Amino acid sequence: PLTTARSGAGSVSIGGLGLAELAEEFGTALFVLDEDDFRTRCRAWRDAFGPDADVFYAGKAFLSRAVVRWLTEEGLNLDVCSGGELSIALAGGMPPERIALHGNNKSSAELRQAIEAGVGRIVLDSFQEIVRVAHIADTLGRRQPVQIRVTVGVEAHTHEFIATAHEDQKFGLALAGGQAAEAVRRVLKLDSLELVGIHSHIGSQIFDTSGFEVAAHRVVGLLADIRDEHGLELPEIDLGGGLGIAYTPEDDPSEPHTIAKSLREIVSRECRGAELAVPRLSVEPGRAIVGPSACTVYEVGTVKELPGLRTYVSVDGGMSDNVRTALYDAEYSVSLVSRASDAEPMLSRVVGKHCESGDIVVRDAFLPADVAPGDLLAVPATGAYCRSMANNYNHALRPPVVAVRDGAARVIIRRETEEDLLRLDVG
Ligand code: LLP
Repeated sequence: PLTTARSGAGSVSIGGLGLAELAEEFGTALFVLDEDDFRTRCRAWRDAFGPDADVFYAGKAFLSRAVVRWLTEEGLNLDVCSGGELSIALAGGMPPERIALHGNNKSSAELRQAIEAGVGRIVLDSFQEIVRVAHIADTLGRRQPVQIRVTVGVEAHTHEFIATAHEDQKFGLALAGGQAAEAVRRVLKLDSLELVGIHSHIGSQIFDTSGFEVAAHRVVGLLADIRDEHGLELPEIDLGGGLGIAYTPEDDPSEPHTIAKSLREIVSRECRGAELAVPRLSVEPGRAIVGPSACTVYEVGTVKELPGLRTYVSVDGGMSDNVRTALYDAEYSVSLVSRASDAEPMLSRVVGKHCESGDIVVRDAFLPADVAPGDLLAVPATGAYCRSMANNYNHALRPPVVAVRDGAARVIIRRETEEDLLRLDVG
């Protein structure tokens, strides 16, 4: 992955290919995805959790048919949260029993599509959905395996967590106040649903496991209550995704085996305390797998120096291919990758070409003072939630994704064209 490139370091390559050559061949803005890096990280997660656990890659981070094939080959499962993601998963050849469907407002059509396909898990998110899924499964003559998503009252932030008495957000059924326990009662009464476990997801870009510790404690508490009330030990617990990656040198993520070891220990300890058999554990990393595997390459179009302030370096993309800076104040780094430069570093802001001032790619960066139109810049760690959240603001054409491996490049998502946009405009 392109994580070590320094500003002005000269030509930079990924998967054995120079970024400048890739930009020449495929144009800019361009996502370059390192297939080996992606696969290596899949294997690291798979091996860390071992045969007694499941790793569901969270498809919302980035999904394409090629990615689905890699996941299938590397032994990962897949978490999808819409009919669109489900279609890509099936088209890419993921066996349906390895797919889990999420979402707080899945439509009846999406539920039917999933149940007909035979997905391995539907994660129930509301009382209405329990009835809806049961009805559709019943109509189709199926018994659908389900988990119930609970909100454990933990709000995870980057380096901390805040335990809240009442969760004020749209996902899941609250443990506090007994909604989750009531959901269990209702699911157990329905023959077309097979309750296999409890699911919890506490947040994203998390660097320590203390939030997971509280979540596991409370989920295992529910499993114990279920045993006491219904005489039933549920076989699965899913602790969701959310593990952070390094966007800047200050970020210090843990390795998958460290995370796996600590999550296993937490769950085992809690189960021992509650005298429960340890259920099968699953996790749903998205960002931690694909985030570091890709970078975005842009061409500089305009350089505008504001004396006493900073220099604005405009590139041929922006919030349409990376909305995270505008949306979350996300931090990225950036490097000049088309040539070496010894010029002094200058305080720069890398901005896009969209019609608003919040259209920022990298808020503060030091780039060589001789950066000029035609130079190529690369922003590392854009594999997660950049192409998947890309949009057509200002009728921008969403960039392609090129996968590189062993010195060969392959377009896995092609560049959008104006014809693509006009095709939708039927007025
Ligand atoms: N499982 C569930 C149920 C989720 O809701 C999510 C993310 C994940 C797994 C994967 O989380 P990850 O390991 O990728 O952090 N658009 C935001 C992130 C939103 C994540 C929503 N759910 C961003 O760009 O940072």
